[in-house]
Amino acid sequence: MTSQTNVVILAAGLGTRMKSKRAKVLHRAGGMTLIEHVVHAAGAIAPAGNATVVVGHQSDRVRALLAPSGVRFADQTEQKGTGHALLACRASLASEPGLVVVLYGDCPLLSPATLTELVRRQSAADAAATVITTRLNDPTGYGRIVFGEQGDVRAIVEHKAATPAQLAIPFINSGIYCFRADLLWKHLVEIRPGNPAHEYYLSDIVEIFGRAGYTVAAMEVENSAELLGINTRVELAAVDKIFRERKVQELMLAGVTIEKPETVTIDSCVRIGEDSIVGPFAQILGRTEIGEDCRIGACSIVENSTLASGVEIAPLTSVLDSHIETGAVIGPFARLRLGNRVGKNARIGNFVELKNTRLGAGAKANHLAYLGDSGIGDHTNIGAGTITCNYDGVSKHKTQIGKDAFVGSNSTLVAPLEIGDGSYIGAGSVITHHVPSDALALGRSRQVNKEGWAAKRKKKK
Ligand code: UD1
Ligand code: CA
Repeated sequence: MTSQTNVVILAAGLGTRMKSKRAKVLHRAGGMTLIEHVVHAAGAIAPAGNATVVVGHQSDRVRALLAPSGVRFADQTEQKGTGHALLACRASLASEPGLVVVLYGDCPLLSPATLTELVRRQSAADAAATVITTRLNDPTGYGRIVFGEQGDVRAIVEHKAATPAQLAIPFINSGIYCFRADLLWKHLVEIRPGNPAHEYYLSDIVEIFGRAGYTVAAMEVENSAELLGINTRVELAAVDKIFRERKVQELMLAGVTIEKPETVTIDSCVRIGEDSIVGPFAQILGRTEIGEDCRIGACSIVENSTLASGVEIAPLTSVLDSHIETGAVIGPFARLRLGNRVGKNARIGNFVELKNTRLGAGAKANHLAYLGDSGIGDHTNIGAGTITCNYDGVSKHKTQIGKDAFVGSNSTLVAPLEIGDGSYIGAGSVITHHVPSDALALGRSRQVNKEGWAAKRKKKK
């Protein structure tokens, strides 16, 4: 890149057509908010410190979301159109030479490669600006590009203001431009709100440049999906679908088997190793990392979790904020929530819930259990129906179970509690006191058999 590039991302609008209390750019597709996708793409042409996001509606939330990325902000307190939004950056950017790329916060599929090419084209051209366009079969709603004889852009006409002949033009205004900074800041102030909506249309700058003797070039992009601007929730769903298709393709090409790929949801940041298999309707979300040779069963949800290699998540299982080591098998119908660590080759079966629990290597909880705020040693077996009573109505308490222990079925472990290595808990016990290593603990009344009792009762009737 020969000259300095500043990026401005317009994101102040509410997005009335979304019919939402939430600002449009905060809606999510492909596992991220729309504005995060755009900021990410902008990173291809300028460092975050050279990107300015114009905020207005719910500016606090947009600022809070993006502040960690290092971008700058400009306020547009009243939303009077795209031209007006760009003016909000004039004071801070007008003295900076080079190029200004304008992006819209509601256009999240734009690729870094297209942006890089836009900057390259504008750097090599004589034009005052280059605008990205594409051909759409149904250009309804978009501004249309009116070309001159030399292939230069004469004007951009908004859909609402277009004549029938202009409505037939298939080339649309993507809203993405690269400007010569000096000419942009000089002429931007000439935009007037001379339309029925009384808005300052940035697209009017094309004709302003023309009157001042400058040309505007167009760059056509073949893959028009990249330029989809989201205005409604229908479009949001369509864009989300494209993100998911892209992600499953990328993973399949990298050696992941995805069964019925059209049914799965895998967020953009997820990583999955070779020869792993993802079953139908699985959802793999957030910052999840999955190793090689894993299996994610049908309809399972894995979010913000790390799975080492060779882990099996059986169908209909939910794993959140957890770390699973090699060879562990979890589910079907298991629920791991919040801060669990499951050891090598451990086994968690159906209807077992884990919260803030560390399960040692080779440990097992095969059926129907709740293990909360607990530590369970290597090779310990937790019987069906075991419950850690970690909550006394006021605070949470810990249960610590050693290695090679055997907790009989239907045990009730009242925390705080320590159970030593190698100990046994008799089935059906309520355990309220610490159990030393290698002991047998029985916490239930003895069985009493009354000989002949039932027979006598029947005779009485
Ligand atoms: C705009 C273009 C249209 C183009 C289309 C592409 C204009 C006048 N029209 O129309 O030619 O085909 O995008 O998607 O430029 N924004 C602000 N402040 C405002 C108004 C808008 O920050 O006062 C932001 C919005 O948050 C949004 C972006 O600018 O991210 C585009 O605004 P939007 O209202 O969606 O423009 P369109 O009507 O789609
Ligand atoms: Ca739009």
